[in-house]
Amino acid sequence: MATIPTVTLNDDTAFPELGFGTYKLTGPEGVGAIVSAIGTGYRLLDSAVNYENEREVGEAVRRSDVDRDELLVATKIPGRDHGYDEAIASARGSLERLGLDRIDVYLIHWPNPRIDRFVDTWRAMIDLRDQGLVRTIGVSNFTEAMLTRLIEETGVVPAVNQVELHPYFPQARLRAFHEKNDIHTESWSPLARRSELLGEQVVQEIADRHEVTPTQAVLRWHVQLGTTPIPKSADASRQRENAEIFGFSLTDAEVAAVSGLERGRLWDGDPDTHEEF
Ligand SMILES: NC(=O)c1ccc[n+]([C@@H]2O[C@H](COP(=O)([O-])OP(=O)(O)OC[C@H]3O[C@@H](n4cnc5c(N)ncnc54)[C@H](OP(=O)(O)O)[C@@H]3O)[C@@H](O)[C@H]2O)c1
Repeated sequence: MATIPTVTLNDDTAFPELGFGTYKLTGPEGVGAIVSAIGTGYRLLDSAVNYENEREVGEAVRRSDVDRDELLVATKIPGRDHGYDEAIASARGSLERLGLDRIDVYLIHWPNPRIDRFVDTWRAMIDLRDQGLVRTIGVSNFTEAMLTRLIEETGVVPAVNQVELHPYFPQARLRAFHEKNDIHTESWSPLARRSELLGEQVVQEIADRHEVTPTQAVLRWHVQLGTTPIPKSADASRQRENAEIFGFSLTDAEVAAVSGLERGRLWDGDPDTHEEF
């Protein structure tokens, strides 16, 4: 079983350097894949109301042999639940579907700036944390300006910001802002959803040099940037492959070469305009 190291968040939580994405893992097969991931060593499970798999994640947590307190179950508030009262009700719904008495990592899924209710949502999350129903609070898909507003209006700095991040979109500027403000970066779609990334010559060459796979080289790049990638895989052997990234290191030049693949966002995910409810 892989042992995944942790970093310390601004709320003192020990947070894994690698997590497990669960989007599209639903039904009995989804539960099986998540149980397998926990058995492989993953401790951070990334879910969301909108993935419609909180029941599966909760079921996998109960079925696994790992102690509940060793696992970090993450879920996210959807756009339709923005607002103070709505967010409190949303958390209760998530807890019920998960069948757990605590959400370990609770995020605002998308800021939806047009409806402008993310600050009220954040205030509810602060109260949920103070009541012990959620442990770590953070956001997803927030820009520097949105993070600044949350901090200025509430005085509470999100512990994490989960954003699109992969070698085609390394987000250097946002990462620097996170670092300055003690916000940990999580990388969503860290493999760029497989795409042609894993066939890029520079990735292949680095992988060959370290006798690892292109996927392992890319995930190691994330870890060395100081972000937590959350790759999703339904397959036990690929879950293992993705977790075996702590026995080698890329050189600074190799990290820079992978970052050189930058070309921008791959999908329609600009937080200033993209909306999800
Ligand atoms: N906050 C947000 O707005 C947001 C947005 C998107 C995603 N996310 C989160 O981020 C997680 C990961 O992102 P993602 O699922 O979009 O993309 P991803 O993790 O970059 O890529 C997943 C794809 O890569 C394949 N794969 C995984 N390991 C592989 C390996 N070792 N070799 C070859 N192929 C491999 C998977 O196939 P198999 O399953 O067949 O292995 C799947 O098709 C999601 O599950 C979700 O939890 C969050």
